[in-house]
Amino acid sequence: MVLGGWVHRTRNLGGIVFLDLRDRAGIVQVSFDPKSTPAEVIERAAKLGLESVIIVEGKVELRPAEVRNAEMATGAVEIQATSFRVVGPAETPAIPVARGRGEKLAAEELRLRHRHLDLRRPELQQNLVLRHHLQQATRRFLDERGFLEIETPILTKPTPEGARDYIVPSRVHEGEFYALPQSPQLYKQLLMVSGFDRYFQIARCFRDEDLRADRQPEFTQIDIEAAFVDREDIMRLTEEMLAVLFAVAGIEIPDRFERLPYAEAMERFGSDRPDMRYALEAFDASEVFSGTEFGITTSALGAGGRVRGLRIPGGAALSRKQVDEMEAVAKSAGAAGLIRLKRTPTGLEGPAAKFLDAGRADHLRLAEGDLCLLVAGSDNISNPAIDRVRQDAAVRLSLVPSNARAFVWVTDFPLFSCTDGVLTSVHHPFTSPHPDDLGLLESQPEGVRALAYDVVYNGTELGGGSIRISDPGLQRRVLGQLGIDDESAQTRFGFLLDALSAGAPPHGGIALGFDRLVMMLSGATSLRDVIAFPKTTAARALFEGAPTAVPDKDLHDLHLERLKQ
Ligand code: AMO
Repeated sequence: MVLGGWVHRTRNLGGIVFLDLRDRAGIVQVSFDPKSTPAEVIERAAKLGLESVIIVEGKVELRPAEVRNAEMATGAVEIQATSFRVVGPAETPAIPVARGRGEKLAAEELRLRHRHLDLRRPELQQNLVLRHHLQQATRRFLDERGFLEIETPILTKPTPEGARDYIVPSRVHEGEFYALPQSPQLYKQLLMVSGFDRYFQIARCFRDEDLRADRQPEFTQIDIEAAFVDREDIMRLTEEMLAVLFAVAGIEIPDRFERLPYAEAMERFGSDRPDMRYALEAFDASEVFSGTEFGITTSALGAGGRVRGLRIPGGAALSRKQVDEMEAVAKSAGAAGLIRLKRTPTGLEGPAAKFLDAGRADHLRLAEGDLCLLVAGSDNISNPAIDRVRQDAAVRLSLVPSNARAFVWVTDFPLFSCTDGVLTSVHHPFTSPHPDDLGLLESQPEGVRALAYDVVYNGTELGGGSIRISDPGLQRRVLGQLGIDDESAQTRFGFLLDALSAGAPPHGGIALGFDRLVMMLSGATSLRDVIAFPKTTAARALFEGAPTAVPDKDLHDLHLERLKQ
């Protein structure tokens, strides 16, 4: 047979040379043995450099039983080489591709700089192969259900999804800029107005935001929109699609996911993307503390706050230092501290214990060995603290069963969030208010629920969507609440408002974070491991070296000038 590939590893056993030849499909052992290989060929093989590309000719032979390698897919055979050619000599690779057992990866920065070598690693190749299969399965699934794949522009107008825009100066129109889309949101709605009925796109989105392990400035969504649908239609479609996509990775998932209203999610878990793989739920201990002399809770309750927290089974065994660390987690989420109480064989222990008589202590419902961690204050203080402490406790006490998976739909989000009296959209401004709450839109906007839903998997938001506003009058009212008056609504979103006035069907959709999905299905821990050419957390492309400065002449052509420092 004739085989082409990269020299993965070589072993020179004095006389016989073995090399592992690698390509996308895997690795196979090639032997250069005086029994079958001419001496001159062996001599050249002994000098082969790692990562060179060679084309080998030889015979496939079964290996003798005692040297078969059960850990290798091709471990029962080897290629006995008769000749080879070096078609792509390699200089000494800047980072190793083959790693020995337990050998650490090179630093990520170095790997991203030499991405062409890093991408040769079988792990990354498998991730990208899986990505491809998931992409094809998505297309097949949606195509079979009558969804049309339609591309939308990359050079566009700002699309408000809550992040900062990447903007592109126009050369032809001085002083004017395109924005890169944060999502195809407005286009997919326009396609519904134009009668396309069912749209999808594996869409590239651009957001200039603070980066984390599960965020990239440039990422991909499975973007879906359909007309004449309600929330359940989109949620069911998503459940069916996720079942198909998880099956690609050999994972069976439930065919319906639990639905959890936002208010309940916040009350029970302090989070709108709760990890439901473990039970730990928040409870309200305000009653227990009401009327006691304990200063921390009394002042919080007096200010209209609550005392909420977690009962952690077996938590009494945690050391003081460990609980201090948990308190630090709560503090980093904004809480002033944690009130600790534990039930030991001798009774309730902790700084607040002496303020609680037996009846009150019983109401805490702590079993022996339980630790109770409480936050006193308003819900917007206690929610993030409960969420973070809950996650910390789950790791610390190994509460997540191995191989557990939990999907949940979080529904009925508020339409707006309010900071210092300024309303912003929780999703985006095109999300429909809940019809039952329309009367509150102007009088009590914070109380208005949205027809929005997020799908959460193991505590990560995989996707989100909503039923949209299809009535231009209502769209203007919602924009008005966001501080966008009719005139600026017309300037910024006139094309949408005009379209909604031209006969708009009811419509809605969803977008799933495709990179996140691949990350979870491949078991990778960073989005960078499932994107061929990702950006660093500082939004740099190290391999190709972007962003870069541009010559003043180019800036001039774009009617831009560098600010003098
Ligand atoms: P949203 O902004 O919730 O909704 O985005 C949908 C999903 O995209 C993923 N995602 C990201 N993935 C990687 N890096 C990022 N920076 C990033 N930001 C978001 C998340 C998220 O759940 N137009 C609406 C959808 C709709 O209403 O139909 C939208 O974009 O997994």
